Amino acid sequence: MERFYITTPIYYVNAKPHLGHAYTTTVADALSRFHQLMGAETYFLTGTDEHGDKIVQAAEANGLSPMEYVDAISGQFKALWPDMNITNDDFIRTTETRHVKVVQSILQKVFDAGDIYFGEYGGHYCFGCERFYTEKELVDGLCPDHQTKPEYIAEKNYFFRMSKYQGWLREHIRQNPDFIRPEQYRNEVLSLLEGGELEDLCISRPKSRLTWGIELPFDKDFVTYVWFDALINYVSALGYPDGDKFRKFWPAANHLVAKDILKPHAVFWPTMLKAAGIEPFQSLNVHGYWLVRDTKMSKSIGNVIEPLAMKDRYGLDPFRYFLLREMSFGGDSSFSEEALVGRLNADLANDLGNLFNRTLAMTHKYFGGTVPVPVIEDVVDAEIKKLGQDAMRAFQAHFCGLRFSRGLESLWELVRGLNKYIDATAPWTLFKAGNKDRLSTVIYVLLENMRKIAVHLWPVMPESAQTMLAQLGITFARDKFNLPKELEVWGVLESGSTVAETSNLFPRIELPEAHAVVAAKVKPGKAKAGKAKDDTSGKEAPAGGEQSNGTIEFEDFQKLDLRVGTVVEVEPHPDADRLLLVRVDIGEEAPRQVVAGIAEFFAPDDLVGRQVVVVANLKPRKLRKQLSQGMILAVKSGDSLNLLTPSGEVAPGSRVS
Ligand code: MSP
Repeated sequence: MERFYITTPIYYVNAKPHLGHAYTTTVADALSRFHQLMGAETYFLTGTDEHGDKIVQAAEANGLSPMEYVDAISGQFKALWPDMNITNDDFIRTTETRHVKVVQSILQKVFDAGDIYFGEYGGHYCFGCERFYTEKELVDGLCPDHQTKPEYIAEKNYFFRMSKYQGWLREHIRQNPDFIRPEQYRNEVLSLLEGGELEDLCISRPKSRLTWGIELPFDKDFVTYVWFDALINYVSALGYPDGDKFRKFWPAANHLVAKDILKPHAVFWPTMLKAAGIEPFQSLNVHGYWLVRDTKMSKSIGNVIEPLAMKDRYGLDPFRYFLLREMSFGGDSSFSEEALVGRLNADLANDLGNLFNRTLAMTHKYFGGTVPVPVIEDVVDAEIKKLGQDAMRAFQAHFCGLRFSRGLESLWELVRGLNKYIDATAPWTLFKAGNKDRLSTVIYVLLENMRKIAVHLWPVMPESAQTMLAQLGITFARDKFNLPKELEVWGVLESGSTVAETSNLFPRIELPEAHAVVAAKVKPGKAKAGKAKDDTSGKEAPAGGEQSNGTIEFEDFQKLDLRVGTVVEVEPHPDADRLLLVRVDIGEEAPRQVVAGIAEFFAPDDLVGRQVVVVANLKPRKLRKQLSQGMILAVKSGDSLNLLTPSGEVAPGSRVS
C-alpha cells in the first residue's frame, strides 16, 4: 500500500496562530485527505517549536516562566486545529521527553562519528531568526527577514560539519527533481550549493547565555541550537529509530514549509540526516507568503489575519476553498476579504451552488425526488462524461503536484460544463414535450457527475462535500471512495434512491459594509499587486481569471447575454401598482415581455419607442402571475431612475459586449 507522510513546520510559540500558519496546516490537511482518497495510508504531523531565545524573550514579556508560556501558546495552536477541521494524527512539542531523547541520541551519534567538533565562532546573530548570518547574507547590514541589525556574537561552541556533505547534497538534489519543489526553490538551493563553500553549522549555545534548550549529551554546559533541535521533530514523532511508524512512513516523508525556512529545511536538515545515517526525506514542498496590502503578515505591522475570524464570517469550508484556490503554490498571494467574497460568490454560489440547487429542484419537479433510471443516451452525454474524466484526471494530477489552484480550476471545468449541459439539454423542454426517457438520462448524468465532484472536493471542503453527498442520498466514508477509480466507474448513484429537495450550501455573500466601501475606493488593479509576484514564479499559471476585489472572471461576464431592444408596448401590471409589463423587441420572432418595477418612474407611454438594454438569458419567472422574460437595466440616482440606452439607435437584438 502506498504511504504518504505530511508535516507542517512546528510553529514558534512566541505568537498566536495566524492566516500563514492556518494556510500551511490547511494545505497539509487537504493533502493528507487527498492521498487517503488516492488509496494511500497517511500520517499527518504538526506541532510547536518551543525552545530558544525568542521564546524566553516572549515569556519574559508576558511575565511567565518559559514552561508556563509555552504551555499556554502551544495549547492555542493545538486547540485551533480541530476548529479548522484539521485532522493531524499527532501533535509534537519539542519540550516533550520523547523528542528530547531523540535529539540527544542523534547528537551523540553524529558526535561519535566525528561530525561535531568544538570551535570558536563570531557572527551576526539575528534573534528573530535564531541564527547567525554571514556578512554576505545581510542586506545593508540588516537581517533580510526582520530588517533589524543583528548582534555580533563571538563565543566557543560546537559545530556540525555541514560542509562535508555539500557535494552529496548537490548531487542528491540534481538527481531527484522532486526533492525540492516547486522548481524555483530547487534552483535557489542548487545555486547556493554551486555558488561557494558551505559553512559548518554552529549547533550549540552556551548555558551562560541561554538555558532554555535541550542539553548537549556530551557537554552539560551547552544547550542545542533551536534549529538542530526542531528539525528532528519530523523523525522523533515517528518514534525514530525503532518505531513502527518510522519504518512505515519515513520513506514517504513530505515536508511542507514557506520560503522563509527554505535553507534550514533544504540544507541543514538533509545534511543532518545524512550524518546521522538516516535516509533523506522524499520531498520538500515550498510555498510563498500570504501578503496583506502587499506586505508579509506580521504582528508588529499589525496586518495579521485571524483564521477563526474568517471562518466565523464566511464559513470554514469556503475559507479553506479560498486558501487553496487563490494561492498559486510557490508564489506569493495577496489576501483581502474583497478577493475572498468575489471568489466565493463566483465559484461556490454561482457555479457549484447553482448546479446543485437547479439539479435537485429538477429531480423533485420531474421525478418526485427519486434518482431516475437513465434510458436514452445522446452524444452530449458522452461529451460531458469525457469532459468530466479529463477534469478529474487533471485535478488529481495537479493535486499530486501541489498545484491546488489549477486542480480546482480543472474541476470547475466540469462544474461549469454541467451548468452548460443543463442549458443545452433544456430539461424543462423535455418535460413539456413528455420526453421522459431522455429527461431521465439528463437528470441522472447531472446527479452522478455531482457525486463525483463532491468526492473530489472532500479534501478541500470536507464538511460541505459530505453534505453534498448526503443530499444525493450517500453517506460518506473514506474507504468507500477512491479517486482514480472515479475516472472509470459510472452509475454508482443508485436509481430509485432519494435526493434532497434543495441544497443551499453556498448562499451568496455580501462584503461586510466597511469593506464594501473600501472595495469601492480601491483603484482597479491595486489589490492585484501582490498577485503579480505569483506570476513571476513561473511555476503555476496564475489561477485562471484571478479575482481580486470581488471581480469576476471574463467567462462569468460572457455568460450574460445583454441585448438592445426597442420597447414596442407597455401596460400596467393588473395586480401590482409598481410593476409595468414592458414588451421589448430584441430581434426575435415575437417581442419579449419583461415585468419591470419602474411604474413609479415612467408612464407606459414614456417608454414606447425607447431603446433599452435587456438581460436576455435571465431565467424566465413569473412576477405576480405575469411571465417576465428578462430584465431591463437601469441606474437609480437619487429619486430618479435612468434607463440604460445606446448612444445611437441600433438594430433590435444587437449584442452588448
Ligand atoms: N519554528 C520554525 C519552524 C521549525 S520546523 C522544524 C518556524 N516557525 S514559525 O512559527 O515562524 O512558522 C513559519 C511557518 O509558518 C512558515 O514556514 C509557513 O509555513 C507559515 N507562515 C507564517 N507566515 C506566513 C505567511 N505570511 N504566509 C504563508 N505562510 C506563512 O519558522
